[in-house]
Amino acid sequence: MSLNSGLEGVIAAETILSEVDGAAGRLILRGHQLQDVAGHHSLEWLIGTLWRDVVPVSSHDQEPLRAALGQARCTAFDTIIPLLPQAARLAPTEALRLLLAGVPDDRPDLPLHLVATVAVGLAAVLRTRAGAEPVPPDAELGHAADLLRMIRGQTPSGTEVAALETYLITATDHGLNASTFTARVVASTRAGLGSAVTAALCALKGPLHGGAPGPVIDMLDAIGTPENAEAWLDAALARGDRLMGFGHRIYRVTDPRSDVVKRAVGSLGNAAGRIRFAEHIEQAALTVLARRKPSRSLQTNLEFYTALLLEALEIPRDAFTGVFAAARVVGWIAHAQEQAATQRLIRPQSRYVGPLAEAA
Ligand code: ACO
Repeated sequence: MSLNSGLEGVIAAETILSEVDGAAGRLILRGHQLQDVAGHHSLEWLIGTLWRDVVPVSSHDQEPLRAALGQARCTAFDTIIPLLPQAARLAPTEALRLLLAGVPDDRPDLPLHLVATVAVGLAAVLRTRAGAEPVPPDAELGHAADLLRMIRGQTPSGTEVAALETYLITATDHGLNASTFTARVVASTRAGLGSAVTAALCALKGPLHGGAPGPVIDMLDAIGTPENAEAWLDAALARGDRLMGFGHRIYRVTDPRSDVVKRAVGSLGNAAGRIRFAEHIEQAALTVLARRKPSRSLQTNLEFYTALLLEALEIPRDAFTGVFAAARVVGWIAHAQEQAATQRLIRPQSRYVGPLAEAA
């Protein structure tokens, strides 16, 4: 058996949920191209579409599901309140880890409760650590609108909600990425959905996966001026650093999510200057990457413009991964259920390269 430490090229699951076509730069979500979903449908529509016949909820239709998710946010809010003082002392992703770990695996309404807990928990943690009262959910609102309202403590504009909803849709599911694979591994042991989602969040946290967008802003800040870009980026690569927001295991031509999110940032008037600066940095990064890593096609990934979008929405940069989780939790749940239905334990092998036992 050959060793493949990163599992690239290994097909470990069959899924009806999403297809990541790296050669064509295409993302299919349950039969729909990403570009035909983002900006055209609501997040609730996508949740219902992804979950139909996979995740049991009272209805997969948009309106009843929106109402049920709104109700789930209210229930989740009551559930997390006692945990907030402890959670708010942690970094936002670690706070979410704590809140998710508190969800019992045998709750009857678990799928929507988990989606609600991430959104409500993130917002409440950010408010609490800022010394403000957590904002209770409004069950009448869509999930994206309520998430932004709860984080900011004021009603966001329609344009802002549309931009966030586009991002959330774009980040909802993406084949067998590291966090989704984690969810499937845990689900395959029959540990339960809450456990699968909590484990997936831990995998998302790392900077090579969902932890990248905060450091993208750190990088833009460190570069400071367009003139400084190429020298700064070249020095970073010379040190062996990775440029956050660039490269992808599967996409070779383009990450279609990057274009969708970039358009969404463009709709936010306050981001125009920042986008121009970021475009300059992006071009410099692609030039430097092509020069230093000629054997590898390294393009802009989802996280680069995600960082700009979340910054323009005034979300603190250390909460970017939490917003990502608010979207990806939908995919984790669907994949965990799909895996559990196969009743097949995921259990690869390692090759032992340690010392052999001494003969007695
Ligand atoms: N900056 C610099 N070099 C890079 C980058 C990068 N962003 N990405 C890959 N490389 C280089 C590697 O150093 C390696 O070079 P070498 O062959 O000279 O050693 C080569 O490209 C191949 O690297 P791999 O690690 O095999 O690439 P892989 O496909 O496994 O990595 C990953 C994918 C982790 C996303 C990588 O591109 C990376 O670290 N990017 C930066 C972090 C980031 O943006 N993460 C978000 C990803 S999108 C998401 O998770 C939603």
